[in-house]
Amino acid sequence: MSLCVEMRDKLLFFFVLSPLLLIFSSKALHCNAAADTISAGQSLTANQTIVSKGGDFELGFFTPGKSLKHYLGIWYTKTYGQSRTVIWVANRDEPIIDLSSSELKLLENGNLVILNESKASIWSTNSTSTASNSLELILGDDGNLVLRNRLNPSVVIWQSFDHLTDTWIPGAKLKYDKRSKRAVKLISWKNSEDPSPGLFSLELTSDSEFVIIWNRSRQYWTSGVWDGQGFSLVPEMKSRSTFNYSFTSNENESYITYYLYDKNMRARLKVDLSGQVKQFLSLEATKEWNLVLSKPLSPCNVYTYCGPFGCCNNVEDSSCQCLQGFKEKSPQDLNLGDPSGGCVRKTPLLCRKKDKFLLMSSMKAPVNPVPSAVDSSANCQSACLNNCSCNAYLYNSTGCSLWYGDLLNIQQLDNGGDELYIRVAPSEVSSSKKESIYRPVTLGAIAGTLVLLGLVLVAIWLWGKRGSVETPNAVEGSLVAFTYRDLKNASKNFSEIVGSGAFGSVFKGILPDSTLIAVKKLEGISQGEKQFRSEVSTIGLIQHANLVRLRGFCCEGNKRMIVYDFMPNRSLNTHLFHQKDSNVLSWNIRYQIAIGIARGIAYLHDECRDYIIHCDIKPENILLDADFTPKVADFGLAKLVCREFSRVVTTMRGTIGYMAPEWSSGVAITTKADVYSFGMMLFEIISGRRNLKQSKDGKAWFFPTWAANKVISEGQPVLSILDSKLEGNADVEELTRAFRVACWCIQEEAVQRPSMGQVVQILKGLLEANPPPIQSYLQSLVENEKTENFFSE
Ligand SMILES: *[C@@H]1O[C@H](CO)[C@@H](O)[C@H](O)[C@H]1NC(C)=O
Ligand SMILES: *[C@@H]1O[C@H](CO)[C@@H](O)[C@H](O)[C@H]1NC(C)=O
Ligand SMILES: *[C@@H]1O[C@H](CO)[C@@H](O)[C@H](O)[C@H]1NC(C)=O
Ligand SMILES: *[C@@H]1O[C@H](CO)[C@@H](O)[C@H](O)[C@H]1NC(C)=O
Ligand SMILES: *[C@@H]1O[C@H](CO)[C@@H](O)[C@H](O)[C@H]1NC(C)=O
Ligand SMILES: *[C@@H]1O[C@H](CO)[C@@H](O)[C@H](O)[C@H]1NC(C)=O
Ligand SMILES: *[C@@H]1O[C@H](CO)[C@@H](O)[C@H](O)[C@H]1NC(C)=O
Ligand SMILES: *[C@@H]1O[C@H](CO)[C@@H](O)[C@H](O)[C@H]1NC(C)=O
Repeated sequence: MSLCVEMRDKLLFFFVLSPLLLIFSSKALHCNAAADTISAGQSLTANQTIVSKGGDFELGFFTPGKSLKHYLGIWYTKTYGQSRTVIWVANRDEPIIDLSSSELKLLENGNLVILNESKASIWSTNSTSTASNSLELILGDDGNLVLRNRLNPSVVIWQSFDHLTDTWIPGAKLKYDKRSKRAVKLISWKNSEDPSPGLFSLELTSDSEFVIIWNRSRQYWTSGVWDGQGFSLVPEMKSRSTFNYSFTSNENESYITYYLYDKNMRARLKVDLSGQVKQFLSLEATKEWNLVLSKPLSPCNVYTYCGPFGCCNNVEDSSCQCLQGFKEKSPQDLNLGDPSGGCVRKTPLLCRKKDKFLLMSSMKAPVNPVPSAVDSSANCQSACLNNCSCNAYLYNSTGCSLWYGDLLNIQQLDNGGDELYIRVAPSEVSSSKKESIYRPVTLGAIAGTLVLLGLVLVAIWLWGKRGSVETPNAVEGSLVAFTYRDLKNASKNFSEIVGSGAFGSVFKGILPDSTLIAVKKLEGISQGEKQFRSEVSTIGLIQHANLVRLRGFCCEGNKRMIVYDFMPNRSLNTHLFHQKDSNVLSWNIRYQIAIGIARGIAYLHDECRDYIIHCDIKPENILLDADFTPKVADFGLAKLVCREFSRVVTTMRGTIGYMAPEWSSGVAITTKADVYSFGMMLFEIISGRRNLKQSKDGKAWFFPTWAANKVISEGQPVLSILDSKLEGNADVEELTRAFRVACWCIQEEAVQRPSMGQVVQILKGLLEANPPPIQSYLQSLVENEKTENFFSE
């Protein structure tokens, strides 16, 4: 799962505000003298390669990982990433065992062959040509290996773009041939060391949609049909500022192809070993592959991703675990990134009524249930026991479902889901005491659980005792380690709630020395005590005039709290949205607040020793001190409570809020996600109202779209979008800057958004922002929003 802070490593350095354009250091890339062509009669031996003119691609023999087998392939030269990225393999089914005397040879008759050590042809293009003297095999700058006549280069005899393996790069066509009714398939590798065809394939159907298929038979994902601009179910895959997708259809074929607008970027899309389609983008500046698209978003939704009797953990990291009583079938495949072998029983079933069942809660049930017309849970269980090939049952309000044979596509869910009973040999039940999600349904085990629970309660009680005798002001760095009892007393048993966010609720408190404090009870903590203390201490070191200062924390048992100074003017939302007319924040104060927030976030992004992505910028998390100086609260918490946070993000997916679109599209989260949220908030500072309003007839009204239309399309004065409560009292120049920068901040493509440092400079008038482009994408968000509401109501 994406962990905000770590993702910062992958930050895309890119700027679009043209006055700010930084010129990337343009080192001379490659000075490779290697040839890019082979002529008829020539060959390529084991230790030779050819390199495309521009230096991006290389053709030669390679050996994946620790494999003992060798292949001919094309890869991105090492300029992109540490390890070579193979994009095409010739002999994926026919490996070469002894490389030393093998070669790729272009025969005089126009056939291109790979000869193994006994000079037998193991792969060939089967092509023919009479132009032997002028034949050439050339590796193009687009990564296409082309066999052609030098004298008539537009006539292609054979090309690798017609025989894609698992990767689709810009310029190549993914085709559906209407005459033969066949599609070019992208097929995953078997595992990270074996390029032979694996289980997953991507292809274009006759209905012009992309589908991903398991084992050439079972479809588990579709892009929806091409609607003229993109695929209906993959809004991310439209032609936008980065990619130019185009779809062509004539009487013979239909195909889709894509290009990059920016000549300095590189892209590739592959069918990954996980069964997901992943698209990567590399920028001239970083030369590192960044994941920009991943479908399906979670590998748990890949058909039989974890294999038979495997369970995909959809709560945390999409990892595969064996059901209890089962063990991995093939640990070595697992190590090579292929969990599809699944699991096998540790102990064979007795196949008599003595077999037992283990209860697993919050599960997404396996595929292919067989309904059984029995009317109670007990009868459902005995129906399963009666047939030795029945491996699981479930009894819910719909009735009894049984599963025969392999259990496929089981998922562990966060909440909800089904109570699934898995059949195991009796000996597995008594020996099972470790995992918590699998509960054996036997009295003995329940008793065991109760005893354990008792021990835990005693332990918690003892912890509480221990806390109460400790001096309240044990100092850790500059932070105070509070006891739970201190904070409980200070907050009058957590009675006055003053706010809540993605990470938990905030309560007001007062210390014995009359200092007012805010206590945040953190929920969904994923860390142990030691790690928590060290993280909090790190956060405690961060100090800036526009960041809330941490006073201390509490870490007792499973209770985790952080304590900061109470801010008398509460949070920004209370002033923006709930104000009485007498208390309207003036434009001047609003503008100073915007600059202050931007400075605080910029500090987190650029100046802390460990970069921090806030991940939850919104008015509720901006606190105002007595002078209305804004203080950003809750920074660093994404790292502490990431599990909870990823859940929050998942549930917010697709709704218009403060969340950048990359949260839902599987793209790496960078500091630009905060920039997006800041932009959304800046619109609310301008308008004094929430960006999204739902009218009674269910229509969504979205302020940023409305404002952009008014000012950019209709050419209305910028004052027309100002909060009407201000009655036009605002500095027009400041308002224009705020509006423009807000528009730039909420660009869909993260690379187009300015950095937070640039935002500060623009707001201060030190940099000029260009007029922003129109946001057609926002309108589509509003439309999507309508549909979501339609479904959820
Ligand atoms: C490359 O391989 C050829 C033939 O196997 C051999 O003669 C030559 O020495 C090798 N060159 C290098 C640099 O290893
Ligand atoms: C070379 O390929 C031929 C044809 O596939 C095969 O019969 C022969 O065993 C291979 N030789 C070696 C040494 O792999
Ligand atoms: C060449 O022909 C052989 C035999 O028909 C076939 O197995 C092989 O797949 C063909 N090679 C290519 C690259 O199409
Ligand atoms: C894939 O399908 C083939 C033929 O339909 C079958 O023999 C094979 O067992 C299947 N593979 C898996 C992993 O189920
Ligand atoms: C997009 O790609 C197509 C080729 O498929 C090309 O004709 C078109 O000019 C491109 N559009 C832009 C804006 O580059
Ligand atoms: C379709 O194929 C036929 C026969 O090969 C050819 O004559 C025709 O030009 C093709 N149409 C297009 C649009 O390429
Ligand atoms: C067990 O169930 C399977 C699948 O429904 C069925 O094919 C088989 O005949 C059953 N066996 C017995 C003994 O009922
Ligand atoms: C009961 O379980 C079956 C099998 O998984 C499922 O199809 C059905 O939707 C469930 N019914 C309810 C009400 O959850």
